This record gives sequence, C-alpha cells and structure tokens, in this order.
Amino acid sequence: MRTQILPPDASSLSLAAELIQQGGLVAFPTETVYGLGADALNPEAVRSIFAAKGRPADNPLIVHIFRREQLDSICDLPDAAVPLMDAFWPGPLTLLFPKKAAVPDVVTAGLPTVAVRMPSHPVAQAFLAACGLPVAAPSANRSGRPSPTTAAHVLEDLSGNVPLILDGGSCEVGLESTVLDLCHGEPCILRPGGVTKEMLEDVLKKPVSLAGSILRPLREDETALSPGMRYKHYAPKADVTLVDGPEENVLPLLRSLYTRDTDAGKKSCILCFSEHAEALSVCRVLSLGSKSEPSQIAHRLFDTLRQLDEEQMESVYSEVIPPEGIGLAVMNRLGRAAAFRMIHA
Ligand code: TXA
Ligand code: MG
Repeated sequence: MRTQILPPDASSLSLAAELIQQGGLVAFPTETVYGLGADALNPEAVRSIFAAKGRPADNPLIVHIFRREQLDSICDLPDAAVPLMDAFWPGPLTLLFPKKAAVPDVVTAGLPTVAVRMPSHPVAQAFLAACGLPVAAPSANRSGRPSPTTAAHVLEDLSGNVPLILDGGSCEVGLESTVLDLCHGEPCILRPGGVTKEMLEDVLKKPVSLAGSILRPLREDETALSPGMRYKHYAPKADVTLVDGPEENVLPLLRSLYTRDTDAGKKSCILCFSEHAEALSVCRVLSLGSKSEPSQIAHRLFDTLRQLDEEQMESVYSEVIPPEGIGLAVMNRLGRAAAFRMIHA
C-alpha cells in the first residue's frame, strides 16, 4: 500500500470520508497529536488499527465525535460530565462513559466504559463531519514510539500501513488529551494532558485525584486504571535519566554525567531549558524550550524525543519542570521516557 499525504481540502476530505465509510484507515491531525482513525462501529475496521500500529489488543481506543448527539447511540451520560463538556469540548479532554452495546468490544478492549472526545482542530472537525460516524482513533504512531505531532512523524512510523494522511501541520498542544474517569466514584485523571487538574477542579468545584502511576512506575500488585499506563511508551532507544534539584547543583551534575558517558565512548546528550543551553554549551544539548513556558515544552517534547532516536543517542540526561498545570503532563511523558529514573542533585 502506498501512503499519500494530502493537504486538507474538499477533495481529500471526501476521499478520507469514503475510506472510513468503507472500513479503511485515515490518519488525521488533532490539536493534541495525530490520530489513526477507523469507523468505531465496524469491528473489522477497528481491528486493522491495532494491526497497523502493532498495538496490544487489551489497550482500548478513544472514540472521536464532532457533535454531542452522537453520544446517544454509544454511551450513557453521567450528570457530572455535562459541565465538563460545556467547558472543555471541543478540546483536549477525553471522558469515560458507560458504553452501549453498539460499541464493539474491540474498541474498549472489553471494558464496560468507552472513552470519548470531541477534538477542536478544524481539520479533525471537518474530517469527522464528512465521515458522519464516530471514529475510533489512537495516536498514529507505531506502538511504543512517541506520539506523532506532524504528518512527517506519522509517515515515519506508518508508511505503507495507512493509505491517507491528512496534513494539518504541527499539533498545537503536542501531548495527548487528558483522560478523566467519572464512572468510578470521585473524578480521577488517568492520563494528564492539555486540560489540567486545576482547570477541571475549577469547573467541578471539588478535588480531582490522580491515578497512582502518573509520576511513578506501576507497582507489580497494582492494576492499571487506564490500560495504556501499563505499556512502555514514549521511550527513545537511549537510556534517559531525569535530574532534579537546585539549579546550582543540577547544571554541574549534568555536565559531569555527560562527560563520564562520552569519555566511556557513549553517544550522549543533555535535554535542558533554553535558559541553560549556553552554560552547558561544552556538551551536546537539545533545548526543551523555555523554563517559563511549559506549554512550549509540551508542544515540542515528542519531536525532541524522536530526534534522540534519529541521532542514535545512547544516554540522555534531562532537566525537569514542576509537575503543575501542563507541567504534570510533561513530567508524566518525560518520566515514562526515563522509566522514572531520577537522580537528585
Ligand atoms: O489526544 C488524544 O487523546 C489522541 C488523539 C488522536 O485524540 N489519542 C490518543 O489515543 O492518545 P491513545 O489510544 O494513544 O491513548 C488512549 C488512552 C490509552 O492510555 C488507553 O488505555 C486509555 O486512553 N483508554 C481508552 N479507553 C479507556 C477506557 N475505557 N478506560 C480506561 N482507559 C481508557
Ligand atoms: Mg498512544
């Protein structure tokens, strides 16, 4: 199969809709990351998503809609969801709902809940409207690779496995949506993303909890609330280690770890804030972006992680940001890239 990348115009959108309606796959941009879509109500089509990505069958998918009426056929609606949909849809918030029978088990990996989101990206909306049906879509990467934030990333991972990539440029948020569980008692964030804990608490007027494994590895005796948390993810081939502590200790430690590894013949680099690039300029550095702009760090993070593989890095030391606001989502992805290895300087 040849993979075409097309700009989103009337003719590529109608081709995309035709592919989806016939049970095929299309990669499309959203404000978070690119998705790999198929008709959510067609089990065969959904199975082909898992095959194209090499994704384990027990990791459920998010169903994408463009208007709320589409919820009627796929799920029940808990009351608590309404103010959240009013505040954050369309946008980077995925909600779990009790699923209806129309949703095939392959979408939810047999779970009684279905994850739903309404993306705000104009191309995603036009694509979903043209399809006229709910679209199941995970991130459009090979399983285990960082999520794609450009059409070129999708091509890198899925060339020959998807007939069409709609090119909407680079994704604004750059990290996947927040996944919020409202079905099991108190609201709980299973995956932090563009809609932050603080923003959710402002609307719900009560505390929102965090799934245990967001900033540490899942313990052996622990079940993953979100199956995706079990898997190695966002992981470059290099050994990544996070370094935290006061700046006056972190910078010298980064330099000495880097020197130790390069002296031992390893290809190494440092992920640092743009403010520190000059102080570390004797080392190979990649900038995470400015320390004072965590949303810029989020926007670039997956591209930076992909660059580590392109440059065949073997060891990487990274600065950290406070796990607040969008910083929580950044530290969740960086933490997982590092298998939560952290040195305190
Ligand atoms: O921003 C996003 O959410 C992107 C774009 C394309 O919309 N999609 C995305 O999908 O990141 P994916 O499949 O890469 O991640 C979905 C996450 C996984 O961690 C999965 O385990 C979790 O959502 N999930 C899906 N359905 C679930 C359910 N019923 N219960 C718990 N977790 C669920
Ligand atoms: Mg994914």
